[in-house]
Amino acid sequence: MRSLLYFLLIIIAAASAAIVQSPSDKDIVPHGEELLDVDTIFRAMGVPFCMRKCIDGFINSTTTLWTMRNVVGQARNVCTSHAKAISCLKHDQFCDMNKIFKVASSSVEYMCTKKYVLFERMEKCLTPVVDKIMEECDNTCYSRSNLTAFSNNSNIQFAATVGGNVFIVTDHLGDLCGSLQCTLPCVTQKLNQACALSGWLALDMLMQPFDAATVMIEQLAPPLRDLVIKKVDKRCRFAINASQLNRIRNGDFTAFNSL
Ligand SMILES: *[C@@H]1O[C@H](CO)[C@@H](O)[C@H](O)[C@H]1NC(C)=O
Ligand SMILES: *[C@@H]1O[C@H](CO)[C@@H](O)[C@H](O)[C@H]1NC(C)=O
Ligand SMILES: *[C@@H]1O[C@H](CO)[C@@H](O)[C@H](O)[C@H]1NC(C)=O
Ligand SMILES: *[C@@H]1O[C@H](CO)[C@@H](O)[C@H](O)[C@H]1NC(C)=O
Repeated sequence: MRSLLYFLLIIIAAASAAIVQSPSDKDIVPHGEELLDVDTIFRAMGVPFCMRKCIDGFINSTTTLWTMRNVVGQARNVCTSHAKAISCLKHDQFCDMNKIFKVASSSVEYMCTKKYVLFERMEKCLTPVVDKIMEECDNTCYSRSNLTAFSNNSNIQFAATVGGNVFIVTDHLGDLCGSLQCTLPCVTQKLNQACALSGWLALDMLMQPFDAATVMIEQLAPPLRDLVIKKVDKRCRFAINASQLNRIRNGDFTAFNSL
C-alpha cells in the first residue's frame, strides 16, 4: 500500500500547490495557514517523519512554484531543494523512501535541465500577468477553498491525529481532483493567450508528477493495481492513466472524464 500512499502524496502536493494567494499579498512564501494545510494533510496520510524532514523543503518550493509568483526564481528553488531532498534521503539509511521519491520526482530533474531555459525566456512576459491569471482561475475553479475544506474536514483531521489513514484520505480526494480538472485548462488557456506557448509549458510541467504516479501504479502487481484504480475517486483517475494524461497534455481536456 506504500505506492498508494505516495500516489496520494503527489496528488496532494500538486493540489495543495494550486493554492492561490490573495491579490494583496505580495509574499512569495506561503502563509502559515496554508502550510498548516499541507502539514495536516501529510499527517493524515501518515507520511513518516524521516521522509518529511527530507522533502518538506522541496514541497515548500513546489507549492510556491504553483502560485506562479516569481516563476523563474521559484523554479530555481525547486531545482535546488530537489537535489537537497535526494541527498538527505540518501544519507538516512533507516528511511527506505529514497527510491520511491526519486522515481516520483524524476520529472523534476527533467524540468530542471530541459525546461528551465524556456521559462527564463518567458519571464518578462509572464511576470506581470501570472498573478491575475491564477486569481481568475481560482475564482472559477475554487481550488483554494476546496483545499481548505479538505484539510478542515473532520475525517481528515481525525486521520491526522491517529497517525495517518490512506483510505480516509482517498475517500475525500474527489473534490480536489474536480477542482484540478477545472484549474489545469483554465491556467493553460489563459497563459497561452497572455504569452504564446507558456500555457503548454506550464501544463507540461504541472502534469509531470502524474506521469510519475502512473509509472509507479503500473509497476504494481495487477490485483493491487486494480484495487488502487478502483479505490481512487472517479474524478482522480485521469491522474493515473497514461493515455488520458497524454491527451490532456496535448490539449484534449475532454480526456479528464473519458473512462
Ligand atoms: C517552508 O516554508 C516556511 C515559510 O517560509 C518556513 O517557515 C519553513 O521552515 C519551510 N520548511 C522547510 C522544511 O524548508
Ligand atoms: C472548519 O470546520 C469548522 C467546523 O467543522 C468550522 O466551524 C470552520 O468554520 C471551518 N473553517 C474553515 C476555514 O472552513
Ligand atoms: C470545489 O470545487 C468545485 C468546482 O470544481 C466547486 O463546485 C465546489 O463548490 C468547490 N467546493 C468548495 C468547498 O469550495
Ligand atoms: C486508461 O483509460 C482508457 C480510456 O481513456 C482505458 O481504455 C484504459 O483501460 C485505461 N488504462 C488503465 C491502465 O486504466
